[in-house]
Amino acid sequence: MTRLFAHLRAVIGALALLGFLALAAPAGAQQPISVNPTASSVKEDQLLEQFKQVEGRGTIPDVKSYVIEHPAGRDWRHFHEVTLVWIGAITILAMLALLVIFYLVRGMIRIENGRSGRKIVRFSFFERFVHWMTATCFIIQALSGLNITFGKRLLLPLMGPEAFSAWSEWAKYAHNYLSFPFTLGVILIFFMWIGGNIPNRADLEWLKRGGGVIGHDHPPAYRFNAGQKAIYWIQVFAGAAIAVSGYILIFPFYGTDINAMEIAGMVHGIVAMLFIAVMLAHIYIGTIGMEGAFEAMGTGEVDLNWAKEHHRLWVEEELAKGRTAPASGRAAATPAE
Ligand code: HEM
Repeated sequence: MTRLFAHLRAVIGALALLGFLALAAPAGAQQPISVNPTASSVKEDQLLEQFKQVEGRGTIPDVKSYVIEHPAGRDWRHFHEVTLVWIGAITILAMLALLVIFYLVRGMIRIENGRSGRKIVRFSFFERFVHWMTATCFIIQALSGLNITFGKRLLLPLMGPEAFSAWSEWAKYAHNYLSFPFTLGVILIFFMWIGGNIPNRADLEWLKRGGGVIGHDHPPAYRFNAGQKAIYWIQVFAGAAIAVSGYILIFPFYGTDINAMEIAGMVHGIVAMLFIAVMLAHIYIGTIGMEGAFEAMGTGEVDLNWAKEHHRLWVEEELAKGRTAPASGRAAATPAE
C-alpha cells in the first residue's frame, strides 16, 4: 500500500513538473519578444553620459568622420531643432504684430502739405540697382533660409515629401549661389552710402523727437535720418556676420573644426532671424507705412514736399546746389527754377 502511494506521489510529482514545464515553455518562448526594444539606445545613452562622446575607428584619412556623436553636436541639434525655431517665430511674428498695430493706430504717414508736383532726385540709377540687387537676394535667401528652419514643420505636411524635397533642393541652390551678389551688394552699399550715414548732432535731435512718427512732428534730417542710419549700420554688420558665417558653412573645414562650424551655424541662424525682423520694418516704412517713400527707390525721384518734411537739411543742401526737377517731374535732375 505504502509502495502504491509512493508510486502515486511519483506520478503526481512528474505530472506537476510536466505541467509547470508546459506553462513555463510559452513564457520562455516569449522571452525574446519581451526584450526592451530601446535597451541598446539606453546603453548608448549610458555610454554618452560616461564618455560624453561616441567615436569609432576608421581607415579614411578624414579623422573627424570617426566621431559619431559629441556634446557640442547635441547642443547644436537642440539649437537647430528647438531654440532657433523659437527665436525665429518670436522675433518675426512679434515684428509683424507690431507693424500691424502701428499701421492700425498711425495709418500711412502722409505728405502733410500735399504733393508739390516738383521732384528732387534722391537716388541714382546705380544706387537703385545695387539696392534692388541686394534686396532681391536678401528676400530669396531669407525665404530659402527659413525653409531650412521651418520648412519641415510647415511645408512638408502641406506639400508632401517629393514636392518638398524638390523645392528645398532649388531653394538651397538659390541660397548658396545668391550669396555672391548679396555679399557684393553689402560691400557696395557700405561704400556707397557711408558718407550720409555717419552719426551727427541732427540725429540726437531726431531721436529725441521720436523721429516724428508719433504726432505730426518733422524733426530735421540730412540725407539719412537716425532711423535710416540704424538700418544702414544693422545691414552692414548683420550682412558681414551673415556672410562670414555663411561662407564658413558653405566651405566646411577650411581652417575650421567642427566646433567652429557649429558656432557659425548658430550665429548665422540668430543673425538671420533678427535681420529679417528689422528688414520687415524697413519694407513696411518704404511701402505702406509712408506716402511718397517708395518713389525714392522706384523712379529715383521724390516729391519736393516729401523731401522737405522728412529730410529738410538735405533739401537745403541740394537746393543750394540747384538740384530739383521742374514741375513736370521729368527723370533727370535739373536746376531749380
Ligand atoms: C553671403 C550670404 C549667405 C551665405 C553664404 C549663406 C549660407 C548659408 C548656409 C551654407 C546655410 C546652411 C544650410 C544648411 O544647413 O544646409 C544657411 C542657412 C540659413 N541661412 Fe544663410 N547664407 C547667406 C545669407 C543669408 C541671408 C541674407 C539670410 C536671411 C536674411 C539667411 C538665412 C539663413 C537661415 C534662416 C538659415 C537656416 C539656419 C538654420 O536653420 O540653422 N542667409 N545659409
